[in-house]
Amino acid sequence: MPPAAADFPLPSETLSLVHTVAEVREAVHAARLRGEKVGVVPTMGALHSGHLSLATSAREECGFVIVTIFVNPSQFGPGEDFEKYPRMLERDLAACRRVGVDLVFVPSAAEIYPDGFRTQVEVTGISNVLEGACRPGHFSGVTTIVLKLLNIVQADSAWFGRKDYQQQVLIRRMCLDLNVPTVIRTCPTVREADGLALSSRNAYLDGEQRESALALSRALKLARDMLVRGETSVERVRQAMRELLEATPRVVVDYVTVAHPETLEELEEPLPEMVALVAARVDSTRLIDNLPVRLPSAPGDRSS
Ligand code: PAJ
Repeated sequence: MPPAAADFPLPSETLSLVHTVAEVREAVHAARLRGEKVGVVPTMGALHSGHLSLATSAREECGFVIVTIFVNPSQFGPGEDFEKYPRMLERDLAACRRVGVDLVFVPSAAEIYPDGFRTQVEVTGISNVLEGACRPGHFSGVTTIVLKLLNIVQADSAWFGRKDYQQQVLIRRMCLDLNVPTVIRTCPTVREADGLALSSRNAYLDGEQRESALALSRALKLARDMLVRGETSVERVRQAMRELLEATPRVVVDYVTVAHPETLEELEEPLPEMVALVAARVDSTRLIDNLPVRLPSAPGDRSS
């Protein structure tokens, strides 16, 4: 006999906070029995409107929305900011409640990496360029934790930000290659009114550093404007981006590039669709940003 609907708890008005894989699985199972679609938003916490836009988009499509919060040690290199990465669970929970998240999963490191853990997931090639070249091992940490989270939750959809452009390219590739059934959704970068891309690491910036950090989005806009106006040398575009950044106090460039939107190969000539990417340090804070560039399809159409 099929189980009665009353056997399955309805989604609670209040947010659930769970710490174990077993609890997540149980909640997802109950949601499925209620016929709900499940969406998951993996994060490292210190939630801002960028993260919350992902949860809000998930909310529109899914009856049951999960946010995971785990500052994943294996994606931080030696000397990076793992220890000082902002941790503010109470504030994060309040934000999740505000946007209608149903469940927040906050595992311990031991829950994720129990004794004897040996596996690494690596997407070859594209994980060694750009961010991967600057942060060796970073992406294998990311793909390993993301695959684990996708397997733990077994959601219908998982929501990522375009802000971490290379990350979402790698995650899509991994899911395709490994037949992961969860659909990967990517949402646009959320910015401050002056163009600064929201990032948990913006919390490290003082007023002057924040002003300098605007150079990243300005360099990207410059690249887009040059390309949309018909610049045919991508090298000149990169040079102009670099000059803008290097003229900004406190800014040290890690890379600037205009790349193929899927392979991330650096371009010499413009394509109809490209992505401009930048990584730079503002004093000791490392920031990344990117901007998709679409060339106008016909002469005179300069609107995109
Ligand atoms: P985190 O930096 O916390 O970001 C979580 C998600 O929020 C990522 O998909 C990221 O691209 C998205 N995001 C961050 N800033 C955004 C912005 N301004 N606009 C839109 N989306 C934004 O990325 C990670 O965590 C980790 O690598 C993770 C995938 C959770 C694996 O540990």
